[in-house]
Amino acid sequence: MAFFEPFALERFFAEHEFSARYLLCSSDCESFPVRELLAMEPDSIDRLLDLRLGYTETRGSPTLRMAIADQYAGLKVNDLFVHAGAEEAILNLCLAALKPGDRVVVNVPCYQSLMEIPRALGCDLRPWPLREAGRWYLDPDELPALSGGKAKLIILNAPHNPTGALPTRGEFEAIVDYARQTGAFLLVDEVYRRLERDPARRLPAACEAYENGISLDVLSKHSGLAGLRIGWLASKRRDLLDAVAQVKDYNSICSSAPSEFLAEIVMRNLDRIVGRNRSIVSRNLTLFERFLAERPGFASWTPPEGGSIGFPRLADGSDSEALAKRLVSESGVLILPGAYYGYDASHFRVGYGRANMPEALERLGAWLDAQPGGGGASKQTAR
Ligand SMILES: Cc1ncc(COP(=O)(O)O)c(C=O)c1O
Repeated sequence: MAFFEPFALERFFAEHEFSARYLLCSSDCESFPVRELLAMEPDSIDRLLDLRLGYTETRGSPTLRMAIADQYAGLKVNDLFVHAGAEEAILNLCLAALKPGDRVVVNVPCYQSLMEIPRALGCDLRPWPLREAGRWYLDPDELPALSGGKAKLIILNAPHNPTGALPTRGEFEAIVDYARQTGAFLLVDEVYRRLERDPARRLPAACEAYENGISLDVLSKHSGLAGLRIGWLASKRRDLLDAVAQVKDYNSICSSAPSEFLAEIVMRNLDRIVGRNRSIVSRNLTLFERFLAERPGFASWTPPEGGSIGFPRLADGSDSEALAKRLVSESGVLILPGAYYGYDASHFRVGYGRANMPEALERLGAWLDAQPGGGGASKQTAR
């Protein structure tokens, strides 16, 4: 490919997502059928049937943006820009804000587009590594050396894909302070926000905390509605959103009208929708931690502090790609090898937002138990 490197993770999912029986590495939470969304508001079916399918506004319908703005402190309808998922928003923002040579600091490992798009644009990319030391940790004190006061954009994903890392309030404030001192834009990919393990640890949105902050969110993860393809940028930097509008004219132009209609229902019922998914996440975390405790010879993890995914490591340090291939073909269970993040191959991603996780774990456990001397419950005695 001429411009972008292939998106390793998306290519992996393209191969397996619709054929593997048990997706044990999905990042999105359990979905909802349209019927259930429509049932949340009494007159919604008639309104949907009367919806006209013309173009919508480039930045998203004002009523949808209003419903989104209600989720943030101090944001107005024109501080929001709706996109076709978070992915389009990342691309449009980078195209609007960055030029070759601009310095960009980005946490790594990361969802590949956060790094690949600035790289492809010729930016001076400074990877900011997460450390695995008791908790997954990003050190704000490393920022001055990475940025040298010159970063145009600092990119943070919190809660983080794939580790579930979540900065403390103090760490987040230190990052905002550094961005403010140097005038950098701060893009926080907040697509796993609202899924903090401890709700008291939820961070303020970047667009609330900082005048040059940009929040990225989407209905795919916490709400389980990836098929709507509705995401958004939220920022008080309207000049930046104006520049984004000029880019969007060259790709999707506007979002899908039925998706915007349904997204509005979602935003008005967000607590209920996310609440359902938080319960699934919480149950699954308990199950998975028990699974790991019963099989110390298989894997262990530095626990995620938020989100719907975590990043365990195989106990024997072997390559998780070899395991993933056998696992999906022999048991139908899909895990995502860490190598797809350009990270240590013995790590792998698990997702715990799906309703069928108990069956997926049962399958995985049975497969492990069937391995000669390998990784099953019997491994309890391995250390
Ligand atoms: C951190 C992060 N940002 C952005 C995206 C893109 O979201 P969407 O697929 O809804 O556009 C993802 C999807 O996995 C993600 O994990």
